[in-house]
Amino acid sequence: METPTITEPRWRIEATRPVSYEVRLCQDLFDHSNDQLVTAGAEDVLPSRRRLIVVDARVHALFRERLRGYLDARGMSYRLCVLETTEPAKTMDAVFRVLSAMDDFGLSRRREPVLAIGGGVLTDIVGLAASMYRRSTPYVRVPTTLIGMVDAGIGSKTGVNFNRHKNRLGSYHPGAVTLIDPAFLAALPARHLRNGLAEVLKMALIRDRGLFRLLAADGSRLVTERMQSRGSADDGAAAQTVMRLAIDGMLKELQPNLWEQRLDRIVDYGHTFSPTLEMRALPELLHGEAVAVDMALSLVLARRRGMLTDDELTGARTVLANLGLPEWHPVCRPALLAEALADTVRHRDGRQLIPLTEGIGRARFVDDVTVAELTAALAELRPAAGAAGDGAA
Ligand SMILES: NC(=O)c1ccc[n+]([C@@H]2O[C@H](COP(=O)([O-])OP(=O)(O)OC[C@H]3O[C@@H](n4cnc5c(N)ncnc54)[C@H](O)[C@@H]3O)[C@@H](O)[C@H]2O)c1
Repeated sequence: METPTITEPRWRIEATRPVSYEVRLCQDLFDHSNDQLVTAGAEDVLPSRRRLIVVDARVHALFRERLRGYLDARGMSYRLCVLETTEPAKTMDAVFRVLSAMDDFGLSRRREPVLAIGGGVLTDIVGLAASMYRRSTPYVRVPTTLIGMVDAGIGSKTGVNFNRHKNRLGSYHPGAVTLIDPAFLAALPARHLRNGLAEVLKMALIRDRGLFRLLAADGSRLVTERMQSRGSADDGAAAQTVMRLAIDGMLKELQPNLWEQRLDRIVDYGHTFSPTLEMRALPELLHGEAVAVDMALSLVLARRRGMLTDDELTGARTVLANLGLPEWHPVCRPALLAEALADTVRHRDGRQLIPLTEGIGRARFVDDVTVAELTAALAELRPAAGAAGDGAA
């Protein structure tokens, strides 16, 4: 007689959740006749006129009157939570402050999306708080920096720094709507404009030769003119095209892999060594500047592997220089790069998956970069960067 097999009962639950969010390029968000800010992300049925608005302290100082004037004119009932945002203060403490504000405000979960108005630091913090509050609360992003407009404010990731690690805690929780009004850039210091152009240059190098040509021709003018139409040499034509191409390229890359199930992401270009560099060089290097240093290194690595010609390398480095972006920082030592690479390999599930440019405007992943190769690339960069007068020892 056969002994009956005793099976342990088990259940598998599978579900898919549709994701949909909108990114809009718009104008005059604070114009009293423009209803986008008060309707974005709110359900049409029983719309509420209450809003909690989390706003970057600097943005608040600059735009307070216009924001309040707009909200009053639209008959909104609102509370402002003004947040000092710096990279070192991008921590869970800031998230808890926003969560307390949400709780004190008594947010109606579906009808009163939180408005997040500020740079990438603020939208990352509010996004994480919104993903945690009642396990998911809608929010609307209004990025006010270039990095926010072309990167931080349009993807699905939120995050804060933890244990000296960049964005180590976070979630995937896109805002219901992102409203991009380039007019905010008129007030942005030049260094932060350059910082955002580093992420634009990333997109150009890995997927868009036309965008690269635009940056090569007009990059420094875009900084001086703050990407505004008024007073610009071409009525803002180049600025508008750069903005549109950068957003479009980024969204096309992000959309098929929104939850990053695939770890071979070309948008990780410039983000192999930079997370460690940025944290070590804090507060000296801004996010985009750390990405620029990583890109300079990646360009030299690509040229050494025959994936770029000498002319292409020179062309790309000239654009970096014209945009006023660094190629080097004194923390760049082989040991630090090796540590950065090891951390990235852990993050990428045991593989390097380093995107490198194959010509300008195309990328390919490599998996076999050695510390010796990094050291040689660094040596090639370092004297040139030192000669550029950035004080590298
Ligand atoms: N979630 C993502 O996918 C993603 C992608 C890229 C970058 N990021 C994150 O974004 C952050 C960097 O963003 P950032 O460069 O916007 O930094 P930031 O938010 O610190 O803003 C930079 C500075 O500009 C000020 N500011 C903001 N808007 C202004 C305006 N219109 N006029 C004048 N000053 C203004 C801010 O007060 C701040 O001092 C990093 O923490 C990075 O990790 C996230």
